[in-house]
Amino acid sequence: MSKKSMKKILVTGSVGQIGSELTMVLREKYGNDNVVACGRKTKPSYTLYNSGPFEFLDITDKDAVGKVIKKYDIDTIYNMAAILSAVGEEKPLVCWNVNINGLYNILELAREYELTRVFVPSSIAVFGPETPRINTPQETVLKPKTMYGVTKVAGEILGDYYFKRFGLDVRGVRYPGIISSETPPGGGTTDYAVEIFYEAIKNNKYTCFVKKDTTLPMMYMPDCIKGTIDLMNVDISKLRHHCDFNMASMSFSAEELSAEIKKHVTGFKCEFVPDFRQAIADSWPQSIDDSAARKEWGWNPSYNLSSMTEDMLEKLSNRHEKGNL
Ligand code: SER
Repeated sequence: MSKKSMKKILVTGSVGQIGSELTMVLREKYGNDNVVACGRKTKPSYTLYNSGPFEFLDITDKDAVGKVIKKYDIDTIYNMAAILSAVGEEKPLVCWNVNINGLYNILELAREYELTRVFVPSSIAVFGPETPRINTPQETVLKPKTMYGVTKVAGEILGDYYFKRFGLDVRGVRYPGIISSETPPGGGTTDYAVEIFYEAIKNNKYTCFVKKDTTLPMMYMPDCIKGTIDLMNVDISKLRHHCDFNMASMSFSAEELSAEIKKHVTGFKCEFVPDFRQAIADSWPQSIDDSAARKEWGWNPSYNLSSMTEDMLEKLSNRHEKGNL
């Protein structure tokens, strides 16, 4: 294989909710040694740590990131490191530092080292109360009311700027809430849609931190990973957008999710006691128009509320039986 066609991938935030599963799929696809996982300080799982290279790395430390890029001859970065919306409201400065200064380091290093491609995730948090909430268009008002949203809007624009100004191939999607059975999310507003499954299996009850009629766009992890890798592999000539693709899959209210779980978990009880995250959820869309992603790179999710719920409950029940939940 010529050097240009060989992939050497760096995944930042690889210990996080998406990063941990994405890294393993990339290792499977491109070879364990070709995917370098890194995380700031959380201990990686045994599998993540032992299946390929792992480095402790803080993306706000540009020199340290540069050394890792050099050491492994990296040509592609998936920058999954981020502070999410709820923690971002508690620690706005940390959120700015990681999501903006960290991203800036990644893009600058990608330009300096002439990397082939960079993935920069965005979020439904780029939208705000002035945005149409139903079937939110691709091109629309971006006036978020959270620090996380502010950093994600800036990240999209910065990525597009690096593409236009320096020809760096930067790509990204606006993830909805991601539901997954391996690594729980940390510090987001959509976390209830994951916690509810863990609590249903472990305790048969859950206290949800948003109101029952709170409806948000969500996606199951296998679709999230497939979409992410598909976007990264599509021929660039097909893309009109770069860092800001709307990406949707399913939308449901917290009550609909609880009702779906009740179909499988006898006696499951869910209460709704909203906290500060309600205001964040209320500022985000209920459903998303992702026709640009479908048209430009063939995005087409497989899971809906019922198939996702069935799969989540099966996976978590298996883990629970093994004492691993
Ligand atoms: N899941 C994220 C959050 O809730 C949204 O991108 O912060």
